[in-house]
Amino acid sequence: MLQVGDEALDFSVLFLLVFGLSRSAAGSSLLTASLYVFVVMFRFPPVPADRAGRVLRPRSLSGGVPVVAHRGGGHDAPENTVAAIREASRNGATGVELDLSFSSDGVPVLMHDETVDRTTNGSGPVSKLQFVQLRRLDASARHRLKDRFSGEKVPTLQEAVQECIKHQMVIFFDVKGQPDKAASVLHEVYKKFPVLYNSSIVSSLEPKVIYKMRQTDPSVVTALTHRPWRLSRFGDGTPRTLSTWGQLWTGLLDILLDWAHHHILWKLCGISAILVQKDFISHDYVQYWAERGVEVVGWTVNTAVEKDYYQNVLKISYITDSLLEDCDPHL
Ligand SMILES: *[C@@H]1O[C@H](CO)[C@@H](O)[C@H](O)[C@H]1NC(C)=O
Ligand SMILES: *[C@@H]1O[C@H](CO)[C@@H](O)[C@H](O)[C@H]1NC(C)=O
Repeated sequence: MLQVGDEALDFSVLFLLVFGLSRSAAGSSLLTASLYVFVVMFRFPPVPADRAGRVLRPRSLSGGVPVVAHRGGGHDAPENTVAAIREASRNGATGVELDLSFSSDGVPVLMHDETVDRTTNGSGPVSKLQFVQLRRLDASARHRLKDRFSGEKVPTLQEAVQECIKHQMVIFFDVKGQPDKAASVLHEVYKKFPVLYNSSIVSSLEPKVIYKMRQTDPSVVTALTHRPWRLSRFGDGTPRTLSTWGQLWTGLLDILLDWAHHHILWKLCGISAILVQKDFISHDYVQYWAERGVEVVGWTVNTAVEKDYYQNVLKISYITDSLLEDCDPHL
């Protein structure tokens, strides 16, 4: 839902900001107007609300809010594996979040990190290993339940998709980079399994990934992932850089990025949802996005108290590492 008043306010704020910095009325007008024209000309309309709703509010078994297993539910089973998808389904998740990566010979597989070291018995970057080499690894090797899941393989994207379809699980495809390759591979998968248009969403921290995805296939439901202070701070809150200037500069960039996400990028990409770090979500925040036709999904919600809050107070879906018990976030 596009609100004219909202848009006028955004661009007025931008104008005043640029004017305040540059003291040039002509320059600020030109910049604001160009940005406005750019957004209007190049934005993708969001997919119809009923289809986005099928993905974001699927039937849920318990009648509760949708619950998505982070990396397939990395606490309950080895992350990003077929076994994890099966476990998540068995434990009542409505969907799984999965990470797309590529072997050195271009095979799309599931892997969160850039290297295989943390999760498998191998070592080195995924992008330097051929698919046959990846396939020989034990994807459960470093998991706390490795005995139960021993011999689990790194799955191909297609194997994971087929397992999800079999269990009627919604898929959140998380894409870290390589916009062109990811968009074309996912487009092929959607063509091969059209049910995905009704049962999956592509998300990324990188707006260019989402923009490219919608350019390649405007029918795909998409989401931006947002973590405030991402450029200046790590996931656990510690500063990325120790120098004062570095912190100031990355902090400023964070403010700009935050503004851009909330006022420009969401519209440009035509997203249906925004996946936000749980500590920044309030009732008002959910309302802000609801007025714009965008659903908020919280991550990573790992304790019973928090889950209760999402279920009964915020009444929005969330992403969790475990369907079964409280656990620390898997960063
Ligand atoms: C990893 O474990 C698998 C399965 O046990 C084994 O076949 C493979 O040789 C191991 N790879 C390495 C690099 O240790
Ligand atoms: C998506 O669901 C709608 C409503 O159930 C249905 O009409 C449509 O054919 C489905 N599309 C695909 C690609 O499965």
